[in-house]
Amino acid sequence: MKIIIPSLLGVETVISREVQDLGYPKEQIEVRDGLVSLNVEETFEAVSEAVARLNINLRTGERVQLEIDSFDAKTFDELYDAVRDVPWESWIPDGWAFIVRGYSRKSELFGIPACQRTVKKGIVERLASVRGYASHEHIPEDPALGTIRIQFSIMSDVVSLLIDTSGESLHKRGYRPNSNLAPLKETLAAAMLKIMRWEPFSDEALLDPFCGSGTIPIEAAMIAASMPAGLNRRFTGEDWPVLESEAFARAREEGRDLMDVEAIDEPFIFASDIDMAAIDIATENAERAGIRSFISFSRRDVANIGGRDWLHAHPDFDRCLILGNPPYGERMGDMESVTNIHHSLAENYLPNGNLIPGIRLGIITAADHFESDIGRPADRRRKLYNGMKRCYLYQYYRHQKRTKSKRSIR
Ligand SMILES: C[S@@+](CC[C@H](N)C(=O)[O-])C[C@H]1O[C@@H](n2cnc3c(N)ncnc32)[C@H](O)[C@@H]1O
Repeated sequence: MKIIIPSLLGVETVISREVQDLGYPKEQIEVRDGLVSLNVEETFEAVSEAVARLNINLRTGERVQLEIDSFDAKTFDELYDAVRDVPWESWIPDGWAFIVRGYSRKSELFGIPACQRTVKKGIVERLASVRGYASHEHIPEDPALGTIRIQFSIMSDVVSLLIDTSGESLHKRGYRPNSNLAPLKETLAAAMLKIMRWEPFSDEALLDPFCGSGTIPIEAAMIAASMPAGLNRRFTGEDWPVLESEAFARAREEGRDLMDVEAIDEPFIFASDIDMAAIDIATENAERAGIRSFISFSRRDVANIGGRDWLHAHPDFDRCLILGNPPYGERMGDMESVTNIHHSLAENYLPNGNLIPGIRLGIITAADHFESDIGRPADRRRKLYNGMKRCYLYQYYRHQKRTKSKRSIR
């Protein structure tokens, strides 16, 4: 059976790596634009275990869905017939409510409301006939019993029918009820840490000088503590009788056994922001996440955090990864302050285009003048989406200035 993990664009390979780290072989994993799929044996135990473990552990996936069926359809009749042939009575418990949503791309079937109505009609007709209801109007739907979220995706005339097992999207870990303006998605922050290959408990500290609500440092601390991302939240799959509910309890137990959140004396994750209100919110969020002791918070202007001075003041570390998302400058008149921040980053960490020894820099921004402000093309840039906003993660790690730059400044 196929388990589908929708992904933020640009994060697919990171999710694939996470799935492999959970013990699933590469051969069972497929990566496509915007999703990763995992093939598991079609047994109650294997599917339940994989769904529970993925929901609880994944840091970078958006949700976990089961693919119920997949078929070709170019007309509404073909869509209706194929949907009606699916044994929905095995997936939708009697009396449960269900919601149908979906999308269509590069396909003959493109009217989303019409596709939605057709899929819903196929399901209802199937349930009415199998369960002996007089007609579709008599099918009871009681959200108090539970709600199944069904998604259809139509890509190049291939229809895929999916059932969601996550409920709220996986980026909702439960530690961030408060957020200031423009927080990063938790899944994106975790992906950035993985893309930058930051290793906790090494000689390299982590510093987010624009921490805002604390997403990057909190995700880093959860990684350091081996705390499963979804340990402290619920998933709709837990109440769905189609899955073994004990599988979630076992996956939580497995996660707790590996976790180590014992308070540490010397934090190796540093978070600062110019705004004291942001620091207060970030500190509360870190407390809620249970990893407060891993992070040292302070109120600072990035202009005053020199790379050399920082390393000098923290002799326990030989190196420091500076990772963050400065303001993009969405509003008119912000451009100057955004450019000033970029110039501060250049002066403090890349003077004359040379990285300070021991420093690596990863900055995610939608500002297309970032590299020209910094004065050196990034060693690598990765296109990522923060919500709908297209950004780049600019990565600087080469300490030798290249004599002949292969890359141009954007
Ligand atoms: C886009 S937000 C960061 C959001 C954060 N990653 C989160 O997930 O909540 C940018 C942050 O940069 C901070 N900031 C703006 N100018 C700054 C400066 N000169 N020095 C340090 N922080 C600054 C803002 O207060 C804001 O919290």
